[in-house]
Amino acid sequence: MRKDLKITIKNEEEIALMRQAGKYLGQVYEEISQVIRPGMSTLELNDIGEDLIRQKGCIPECIDYEGFSAAFCISVNNQVVHGIPHKDHFLDEGDIVSVDTVLSYKGYMADAARTYPVGHVIEPFMQFIEDTRKAFYEGVKFAKAGNVVNDISKAIGAYAKAHHYGVVRELGGHGIGKGMHEDPFVPNYNRIFYKGPVLKQGMAICIEPMLNYGKRQVDFLEDGWTVITRDDSFSCHYENTVLITEGEPEILTLEPHA
Ligand code: MF3
Ligand code: CO
Repeated sequence: MRKDLKITIKNEEEIALMRQAGKYLGQVYEEISQVIRPGMSTLELNDIGEDLIRQKGCIPECIDYEGFSAAFCISVNNQVVHGIPHKDHFLDEGDIVSVDTVLSYKGYMADAARTYPVGHVIEPFMQFIEDTRKAFYEGVKFAKAGNVVNDISKAIGAYAKAHHYGVVRELGGHGIGKGMHEDPFVPNYNRIFYKGPVLKQGMAICIEPMLNYGKRQVDFLEDGWTVITRDDSFSCHYENTVLITEGEPEILTLEPHA
C-alpha cells in the first residue's frame, strides 16, 4: 500500500497569498532574464536574484534548506538541477543556464525555474530550451479538477519522447503551499501502475519537466546537490507553480510580459 498523501487544499485567503508570491517570482524572472551575460559568475547571478527577491519583501527559501547555501540553484549545460552557485564558475557564450528558486510571501511559497541562453546559443539548443517550455504547457493542460496526476505526467513524457529528449525520472514536480515540497509527487513520465491522486480545486502543484538532449540517466555529485547527465549532454528545466481551479489551470509564476 502507498502511504497516505497529505495534500493541502487552499482557501480563498491562502490562494490570494499564493497568487501574490507567484507574481513576485514572475517579476524576479523577468528581471533576471535581462542580466544574464557571458563572463558573469553563477554566484553573481545568484546574488542579483537574491536581492530582487528581498526587494519585493519576499524570503529566499532555498538558503539553508536542507543545508543548501544559496538563494538559487544554478545549473549550467550538462548540470540538470540543484547546481550550487560559485564565484569561480563563469558563464560562457554558448552555455545554457538553468535557474531555479523558491520564495515565500507571508508564509506561502512559489517555485519556478527557467533555462536561459548565454549570449549566442546554437539553434538546436535554442529549440531544446523552447521544447522544454512547451513540454510544461502540454502537461499543464491536464492540471484540472477531476483529472489524475498521471494525466499531466503522461502528456509531458509523450511530448518529450516525440522530440527524442531523455526524460529525467529521479526528480519531478510536487505539491506546494506553506511547504516547499508537499504531496503529491508529479513525475514527468507515464506511470503504468500508479496514476497518482485525483486533482481538486484549491490544490497547488509545481510542474517541472527536466529534459536531457541525450539519454535520460543522471548522476548525483559528491557535493550532495548537483545532478548531471550521465552522458554529459545538455539539460533543460522549466517550472511553474500552478493552481487547480474549478475551470482552467492558473499558472501563478509567469513573467508579467510573458
Ligand atoms: N525548486 C527546487 C526544488 O524543488 C528548489 C530546491 S531549493 C534547494 O528542488 F535548496 F533545495 F536547492
Ligand atoms: Co520545484
